[in-house]
Formats: sequence, C-alpha cells, structure tokens
Amino acid sequence: MSPTFSETLRAATLPVHEQANHSPYISALLGGELSVDAFAALAGQLYFVYSALEDAAEAMKDDPIAGRFVFPELNRGDALRQDMAYYFGPSWQSVITPLPATSAYCDRIREAGLSWSGGFVAHHYTRYLGDIAGGQIIRHKLRKLHGVEGPGSMFYVFDQIPSAPRFRDNYRALLNDAPWTAQERKDVIMESIRAYELNVGVFAALADEMPRYSMS
Ligand code: HEM
Repeated sequence: MSPTFSETLRAATLPVHEQANHSPYISALLGGELSVDAFAALAGQLYFVYSALEDAAEAMKDDPIAGRFVFPELNRGDALRQDMAYYFGPSWQSVITPLPATSAYCDRIREAGLSWSGGFVAHHYTRYLGDIAGGQIIRHKLRKLHGVEGPGSMFYVFDQIPSAPRFRDNYRALLNDAPWTAQERKDVIMESIRAYELNVGVFAALADEMPRYSMS
C-alpha cells in the first residue's frame, strides 16, 4: 500500500527533525547543562513566532482548507504571556526582543502562511504537532531540572486537548484529506522543511548566548 500524505510528510521531515532535535542548544537544554534562563530565552523567541502563527490562523480561519486546521485549543498566546510575566516581570514586553533569526522566521510565516492553505498548514504542523509531542519532553525537563511547573511552563501545557495521540491522529487525517494536488503536496513538504530549518536557525542564534546560561 502506498504511504499516506501524512506518512510521506513525516518521513520527508525526519532528517531535519533529527537536526532540530539534536541542535546544540536543545541538547544542552535537555541535558541539564543550562540554567532556567535558557528555557525563558527560548520561550521569549517563541512568543514572537506564535504571535505571527496565531495572527495567520485568525486570518486563515475561514479558508476552506486552512480553516480545518485552526483549533483554538492549540493557541499558545495566553500561555506565553503568562510565562513571559513569570520570567521577565510585568514589563516583559519591553524586555524581550526577537533575534534576527526569529524575525526571519516570522517574516516567512507571514509570507507563506497568508498566501495559501498549504503554506499555512506547513508552518502550523511543524510547530504545534511538535509541541504536543517533543514539547512534552521539554515540559518534563523544566519540572525535573528546575522545579518549574504551572507559570513558566504554560507554553507546554495543552489542558484543552484531552488526548494528544487522538489529536495527532485526527490532524494526520486532516492532512490526508486536504484536497491538494500532487504538486501542492510537494510544496507543503518543502515549506515544512523550511519551517524546521527556520527553527534550527533560531536555536543556532540562541546557542550564541549559551555561555551566559551555562551551569558548569
Ligand atoms: C526537544 C527536542 C525534540 C524531541 C525530543 C522531539 C520528539 C518528538 C517525538 C517523540 C515525536 C513523536 C513522534 C510520533 O508521533 O511517533 C515528535 C513529533 C514531531 N516533532 Fe519533535 N521533538 C523535538 C523537537 C522538535 C522541534 C524543534 C520541532 C519543530 C520545530 C519538532 C516537530 C515535530 C513534529 C512536526 C512532529 C510530528 C511528526 C508527525 O507525526 O508527522 N520537534 N517529536
């Protein structure tokens, strides 16, 4: 039997998933080598990414294809605002700034994510499906290594999604059923790879600051 589109997408992005997953910043973060400030710095950059992503979701919610992927229960904006206030205080908005790599990522979300359904879905898939899977490993580490749960880790809490595996299965079915042409499916795959690469770019930029967070 030939693979489904969601299987093809997953297989095609596996190498760049591995690259993201094993990037030096993420490895040091999960390896317990960095202070809690490194988790805060990551969340600070993600705040800008999710602002762009969730603005795109709002703009695309009535699109007949993209709209099927817009689930309010995924929204991270409120959670990130709580986490920012926890880490950076009430004036957090004047404290955090996007790194150039983050701005480049946000620009691409606006460019690809607002122009057609597949561009939006590629960026949506790459972040949210990762958050409800690998993101849970980061949540666990934040608690185990630094005792942070609740505020400070709200970004990783999807309490309106009762079953992540069921949500993922449903999401994969939506990917399989989206009426894209063969070329459009290829374009979704290419854009997803690009989304991963943009994440890798943000992690690499964060890694430049790593000595500040080192606990050794
Ligand atoms: C912290 C390091 C990471 C770990 C430990 C991790 C781990 C995982 C795991 C265990 C899965 C579940 C695979 C399955 O459903 O069988 C997964 C899926 C996924 N991850 Fe990650 N991941 C990490 C980082 C990332 C990053 C940085 C991204 C993208 C920005 C990402 C995007 C995804 C996506 C899109 C999926 C869903 C794949 C699919 O089923 O189609 N992950 N990850």
